[in-house]
Amino acid sequence: MFHPQGPTFRELLVQALSSTEKGYDLLAPKFDYTPFRTPAPVLEALGRALQDLGSFKAGLDVCCGTGAGLEVLRPLCAERVVGLDMSRGMLEVARQRLAQAPGASEVTLVRGDALQMPFQEEFDVVLCLGAFGHILPRDEVRLVDSVARALKPGGRFVFVTAEPPALWSLVGLLARLFNLVMRIRNLLVRPPFVMYYLTFLLPRARKLLVERGFEVEVLWGVFPRPFSRCCVVVARLPEASFSRAAQV
Ligand SMILES: C[S@@+](CC[C@H](N)C(=O)[O-])C[C@H]1O[C@@H](n2cnc3c(N)ncnc32)[C@H](O)[C@@H]1O
Repeated sequence: MFHPQGPTFRELLVQALSSTEKGYDLLAPKFDYTPFRTPAPVLEALGRALQDLGSFKAGLDVCCGTGAGLEVLRPLCAERVVGLDMSRGMLEVARQRLAQAPGASEVTLVRGDALQMPFQEEFDVVLCLGAFGHILPRDEVRLVDSVARALKPGGRFVFVTAEPPALWSLVGLLARLFNLVMRIRNLLVRPPFVMYYLTFLLPRARKLLVERGFEVEVLWGVFPRPFSRCCVVVARLPEASFSRAAQV
């Protein structure tokens, strides 16, 4: 549908009628030939932005999929990079891809839920790309908490988002139409396939991060057209992290 080696419309339909996890297991072998993978120009520009932040010892890519972000992160991390995803199929493709990826740091792939990651103050940088649509708004606080726990004090949560589109813009209308179709699908078919657009946009992301104690910096002008309306958020956990403060 998107590419000769990509999924057919029928395959996408079967995927969308499965659970989120099963859907990605099915899509995994063809995922890199879909527009759902973070596009190469975005990854390249993000890599440069990350490089400007300095060097890292350990990095985590949450919802790593087939490893798009891990390929960017690995050469920037001196010791180790970890990719976490709920789909075995996606992790298997990531494992094959990472075998040839540039960089010398140790790579570990973990199957798990982004909302309850098994990490405690382990990473200097946490990435999350193209996956906020799979997190329901009511779970976004849990995602932020899960990332905050995984970061070392002073560590950074880096992701790509955008300002909300104008209400009557084509992008806004198409996204809301897609969301309506998904809501109806999820009312009628179990288990749900969680995928909605317009989630974790800048105002909401900033509010949740600031509430959890992050210092938020927004980098504009990072991406070339047609991605120039996206920004990079660099959310830094204070040296005395909230998780530590909460434990005291
Ligand atoms: C659109 S793909 C993005 C993959 C990759 N980050 C990229 O940019 O190409 C979304 C990924 O998020 C994963 N995912 C969705 N919800 C998740 C959750 N709650 N915990 C862990 N992984 C999740 C899916 O399995 C899928 O691999």
